[in-house]
Amino acid sequence: MSTEISRSCAALLLADALPRMVLPAMDVTTSFWLLLAITLTLLGVALVSGLRRKRRLHLWAGPATLLSLTVTIWLAEQLGRRYLFPPEPMRIHLVFAISGGCLAALVGITGLLLWRSGRWRRLHRWTVFTFVAVALVATGTGVWIWSLAVPR
Ligand code: HEM
Repeated sequence: MSTEISRSCAALLLADALPRMVLPAMDVTTSFWLLLAITLTLLGVALVSGLRRKRRLHLWAGPATLLSLTVTIWLAEQLGRRYLFPPEPMRIHLVFAISGGCLAALVGITGLLLWRSGRWRRLHRWTVFTFVAVALVATGTGVWIWSLAVPR
């Protein structure tokens, strides 16, 4: 268990340090799309490793997904300062983006609970499935509002 915790901590530190090292060299738009692609890839790895009960990989990929998502959301806010988005599509997108953020927190909490006891499995699974569905709609509506954006 302590080895798993150290591995998860190392993964978190790495996932945190990498964007800090790489991002200053790139503009916000490129960084945002890159981080979004990394987040979606990690989401896939977390989903498959969780379903296949590959616990060691999952305890790396799950926290890394949530951390990468946090950086992506921060970059999306930076994009919002540089571009104007039409209000109505933006309002629709924000419903899914904010719900996705709240669900991500629940995924983390239920994941930590499941780490301690198997009785949280069903709750973790259902928060994960809801989160993945909402995150995909948030990504789709995000691409949609991006297609309507104009520089400030
Ligand atoms: C802090 C983040 C997370 C922690 C601590 C965590 C922890 C766990 C643990 C301990 C398990 C049980 C694994 C086993 O039985 O060997 C599990 C299962 C699972 N996790 Fe996570 N997880 C996290 C995030 C995620 C994320 C982001 C996803 C998906 C995108 C995810 C999807 C799943 C799935 C699908 C299962 C299988 C549930 C089942 O057996 O029905 N988890 N998680």
